[in-house]
Amino acid sequence: MIVGVPDETAADETRVALTPPVAKKLVGRDVAVCITSGAGEGSDWSDDDYRDVGCDVVEDRETVFERADVICQVRGLAANEGEPMDPYREGQIVVGTLGPFDLEDESYDELADRRVSAFALELMPRISRAQSMDVLSSMASIGGYKAALVAAEQLPKLFPLEMTAAGTVRPAEVFVIGAGVAGLKAIATAERLGASVKGYDIRLEVKQEVESLGADFVELDLETEGSGDDEGYAVEMGEEFYEQQRKQLSQVVPESDVVITTAAIPGAPAPELVSTEMIEGMDDGSVIVDLSAPTGGNCEPTVAGETVEHEGVTIFGPTNLPATVSHTASQLFANNLYNFLDHLLDEGELDLDTDDEIVDSTLLTHDGRIRRPHEDGGEEAAEDGAEADDGDGEPTEGEADA
Ligand code: NAI
Repeated sequence: MIVGVPDETAADETRVALTPPVAKKLVGRDVAVCITSGAGEGSDWSDDDYRDVGCDVVEDRETVFERADVICQVRGLAANEGEPMDPYREGQIVVGTLGPFDLEDESYDELADRRVSAFALELMPRISRAQSMDVLSSMASIGGYKAALVAAEQLPKLFPLEMTAAGTVRPAEVFVIGAGVAGLKAIATAERLGASVKGYDIRLEVKQEVESLGADFVELDLETEGSGDDEGYAVEMGEEFYEQQRKQLSQVVPESDVVITTAAIPGAPAPELVSTEMIEGMDDGSVIVDLSAPTGGNCEPTVAGETVEHEGVTIFGPTNLPATVSHTASQLFANNLYNFLDHLLDEGELDLDTDDEIVDSTLLTHDGRIRRPHEDGGEEAAEDGAEADDGDGEPTEGEADA
């Protein structure tokens, strides 16, 4: 089996799907690794680093697509915004973040047509045995860390309490909205930098985690019954609920120097929680980092990929903070990816057993069929692709030669 790593094509992408240490582990298991020359440069791995562990470094990415049985990408398909579909070939397996919630029907048809088996790592179930494969959590943790640093860098105040001969200066007030993976990391980082930190989440079960990091938990007077699912994700609430939420958040936001927003609902637009009016109540020089910018943002004035000023407040709308820490981000991504491949590897081939929850949850197209596992009904929602069967009239599942 040949695993291929094409260079990433998105303009802001510096990560690489496989690092030399992970490639070495695959080579040690008789899996050949083929990588485009320069693919690791953005995260500080040279072609020689890959050659040294036994990878085949090729000049152009087309060769990787021609040779590989399994393509590993940080960003493919809809996650690779604006880029045309890569030249996946018949029978190929693709693993990476693929933007399954934004994937258009034509892309599904095209993949099914080409009999490509595509795994979207964003759909990894939040179950304990899949934790080591969870790229979203790895990247969110980096995003939360970096969000706190971006805010500390921009704020014209120090984060920590300063007690000096020149006088005492109060610590910066940091408010983190959404205490999932990114939010908890932002809280922990701001705490370590010495700020006075508050955290808030719609799911009250995270109160203890927020407090264990040394932050205060903000409790709002809202009916939050049914606001979370079994996997620890929030569910979409009605506009009336968000209206109430904004009303109460308007007591906390204006008194903060920094607001970091991370509120997210999988597959849905980010809830708008911070209004322009609240921002107008903040002091000049205050900073907002809206991590949910890629899905619409939690703040009214957020613009994805840009930094905007509103009445003296700077609002960052980053879309790819992990790429700003590309070495570490690639290490974690590659480790997650290896753990996923390891889960599927069976005697040198990938076993695509859709009875397995991890495979079933992440596999978008297989055997010429469209699956859409993230949509209601899961496997039930499977549709026929353009070539829905293998010629005998029966859809086939199970092992794929790779
Ligand atoms: P997560 O699902 O672990 O956490 C999101 C949290 O938001 C949950 O705890 C949820 O309960 C909370 N939430 C949802 N609705 C809420 C509401 N109305 N009020 C208060 N809390 C609410 O997600 P994770 O992994 O922490 O990611 C957070 C966001 O950061 C996602 O949108 C993710 O795509 C984004 N992200 C952005 C990066 C960037 O560079 N811009 C990098 C990494 C992640």
